[in-house]
Amino acid sequence: MKIRPVSGALGAEIGGVDLARDLNPETVAAIRQALLDHVVVFFRDQDLSSEAFMAFARAMGRPVEYPFVKGLEGFPDIVAVTKLPHQTIAFGGNWHSDTTYFAEPPMATMLLARELPPQGGDTQFANQYLAYETLSDGMKALLAPLRWVSRSDKAEASRTREDRQTSERTVMIAEHPVVRTHPETGRKSLFVNLAHSAQFAGMTVEESLPLLRFLWAHQVRPEVTCRFRWTPGALALWDNRCALHSAINDYNGFTRVMHRITLAGDVPV
Ligand code: SIN
Repeated sequence: MKIRPVSGALGAEIGGVDLARDLNPETVAAIRQALLDHVVVFFRDQDLSSEAFMAFARAMGRPVEYPFVKGLEGFPDIVAVTKLPHQTIAFGGNWHSDTTYFAEPPMATMLLARELPPQGGDTQFANQYLAYETLSDGMKALLAPLRWVSRSDKAEASRTREDRQTSERTVMIAEHPVVRTHPETGRKSLFVNLAHSAQFAGMTVEESLPLLRFLWAHQVRPEVTCRFRWTPGALALWDNRCALHSAINDYNGFTRVMHRITLAGDVPV
């Protein structure tokens, strides 16, 4: 197994692994360690059936259903993230951590490229350990006791969900710490996000927005990001506890189909 970092901030490509065949305990443990070390890991040229994709997901954690978009026939935990030539809005087209409106947001997400536009459609990732560590001591002290409210109906999120197939009537709301401690690495990371952070707990939206806007900009500065150019059969696996991601919507008129699985997480502390 060869691990090659793709930027100074986060992300590594893992080569020499066939995820359909090499899921022995040593390889699984090495992939998990690489995920903890690099926050997001990428694999190229994986020939994975839905069964094999599920097997890899189960080796990494416990797959959970996505609340708004129906899963594939026979594979309810695999969601197709699709943009068709006539569509102009992309699923996940803004900076977010997945489904933080759950009390227990997912630990990780995996995305597999099934059909790609001739160019464009990259995904960006941002390292939230670095986002936290590059704040001043004064700002860290200010943020330490704060909690925030995550809502599934926040405007920025719904704008990017043109392909929802299930009812949006139920609004999901959860409260989380602004700074969370990773349950495996023990490192602190910034845990707000543009798509789902509505306000700080105990404050109005108007009171919250100035500081939230600063954090949303700070947490995705180019120095803390990487950008992944997809190729057919590429797979990305990211740690939702310390990464943000955003799909770049620069391929109108073309089709992009990705298969996505999220893995169960725990209560952020
Ligand atoms: C997502 O937000 O999970 C989708 C990301 C992408 O399509 O690149």
